[in-house]
Amino acid sequence: MERIRNLKLKSWVAEVFALCKPDQVHWCDGSGQEYDTLCRRMVEQGTLIKLNPSKRPNSYYARSTPDDVARVEERTYICSLRQEDAGPTNNWMAPKAMKTILTGLFRDCMMGRTLYVVPFSMGPLGSPISQIGVQLTDSPYVAASMRIMTRMGQAALDVMGEEGDFVPCLHSVGRPLKTGEKDVPWPSNAESKYIVHFPEERAIWSFGSGYGGNALLGKKCFALRIASKMGRDEGWLAEHMLILGVQPPGSKEKTYIAAAFPSQCGKTNLAMIVPPESFKDWKVTTVGDDIAWIKPGPDGMLHAINPEAGFFGVAPGTSWASNAMAMRSMAHDSIFTNVALTPDGDVWWEGLTEIPPPRLTDWQGQEWTPGCGRKAAHPNSRFTAPASQCPCIDPDWENPAGVPISAFIFGGRRPSNVPLVFQAFNWIHGVFLGATMGSETTAAAAGQVGVVRRDPMAMLPFCGYNMGEYFAHWIKMRKLIKYPPKIFHVNWFRKDADGNFMWPGFGENMRVLEWIVERCRGNSGAYESPLGWIPKAEDFNLDGLAGMSAEKFEALQHIDIEAWKKEVISQDELFVKLYEHLPKELIFQRELLISRL
Ligand code: GTP
Ligand code: SPV
Ligand code: MN
Repeated sequence: MERIRNLKLKSWVAEVFALCKPDQVHWCDGSGQEYDTLCRRMVEQGTLIKLNPSKRPNSYYARSTPDDVARVEERTYICSLRQEDAGPTNNWMAPKAMKTILTGLFRDCMMGRTLYVVPFSMGPLGSPISQIGVQLTDSPYVAASMRIMTRMGQAALDVMGEEGDFVPCLHSVGRPLKTGEKDVPWPSNAESKYIVHFPEERAIWSFGSGYGGNALLGKKCFALRIASKMGRDEGWLAEHMLILGVQPPGSKEKTYIAAAFPSQCGKTNLAMIVPPESFKDWKVTTVGDDIAWIKPGPDGMLHAINPEAGFFGVAPGTSWASNAMAMRSMAHDSIFTNVALTPDGDVWWEGLTEIPPPRLTDWQGQEWTPGCGRKAAHPNSRFTAPASQCPCIDPDWENPAGVPISAFIFGGRRPSNVPLVFQAFNWIHGVFLGATMGSETTAAAAGQVGVVRRDPMAMLPFCGYNMGEYFAHWIKMRKLIKYPPKIFHVNWFRKDADGNFMWPGFGENMRVLEWIVERCRGNSGAYESPLGWIPKAEDFNLDGLAGMSAEKFEALQHIDIEAWKKEVISQDELFVKLYEHLPKELIFQRELLISRL
């Protein structure tokens, strides 16, 4: 501790030590040796199982408890000084009252455990767009995961220096150990979970969960909830977006696109899309798969960085056919959580292979056989893999200046009504499309799955301030840039009357990217529909797409006017909720849409 020069950090660690009473403190240096030691201890302890090194070198497997498998939105709070600043879409409590509750919960909560000091950089080390955070956690699983997901350790401390600021992120699994008590494999607190943000103070306190976005505090808590507030104050955007680069054959230029889809709606898949055979001369590269920090650049364009260094990706459905690049990213040096284990010490999940192995151990440690009636992997089971292991990672993914963005895409899971792709008429109309986005809920958050809810810009669970103000901030951003990205809306998930997907999706989404890139470059056609500019079959590349015809494509793009009138009414529910802070521009957009319908 004597080595630590940063006074704010030193006194904060001392304060937390006195409050939480851990047995000891470990300052993470981020080295490979430290990671190996952490993992080895977790194997001894029963938290991790080492996977078969001949199948999955240097990789580990963890099982959580069934009550700690996803983000808990109803336990997530934005504790701004005024409730109005959190807005009607966030849980709120006065900071003082919340601190009283949390201080009570954190008192003595690390007894019998080690406190890990985890310094990290969100974004490339030393980039002017990057931010430093320090997570104090009693979970070695979190400390190890943070080494994959962020630039973690001594290097981040060096950037911080003596006087540098950082976002304090306090985390406990909330399960102290009595003297001599044996630990459980996945400590957490079943009774009490709090994921709390103090936006004015730029601080995060998380209690009771060890899983994903509840516990890896650099991700949703910092890089979205706290950073969205920073962005509003400072004139930039923190978004739930993947970033990819597309280079058509014969073109020297790459077109960068950022896309916002809600949790488990296809960001990781699109970010690493492998062009199908008919697109073999197209190049696609990945900058990020979940979060984008976006700032106006000196060239008049918006520039984006990926603040993360790893992927925390949904395992089920990921396969060599659906996402080969993700498969290669997690081929080694990765952590798997809540998937199933094969008898030879590798991992499996639904969708990995068409035919499941004859025998598995499921995510709860039970014997599993095909047809036993249970899922082998939890629907929100995840892989944690270094982004640097992704074969299609963009050469500029760590460029401190970011990459220039030409297009934004918004999209959700919409079984009906919403066409495959259309383009907004202009920036404000694009903001309206993002603001009124809907999607079916998924297993990424605890609660009911498959009900359509409004999820503006895929940020409903992640906006750290008033959602109405957030829309206003998006509208205002237009004035800070000369060349605004064009804005598109997509839906891979439209179903026919028999419940089948009407669009093959995955690699074939390349066709939609082609239309979008060529729209950005002024080369592809569209006609004016009530919803926006929309391609007809002749404007869209359907060559060699099995099972598709011009008629089927028109059905996929069909706009049912009566259904859309109902859609507008259902959009109103959110607008009424946000009314006090809703920018008038969005109300005008709604009126214009109705008049076009
Ligand atoms: P988070 O990490 O929770 O933010 O999720 P994500 O947005 O990165 O979602 P991901 O790419 O992991 O996809 C989630 C699910 O959507 C997987 O089960 C995929 O199989 C499915 N999916 C992705 N792309 C497509 C597509 O084009 N069509 C269809 N039908 N399903 C898709
Ligand atoms: C999401 O839910 O959008 C995720 C997973 O990316 S988590 O990190 O748990 O938030
Ligand atoms: Mn996500």
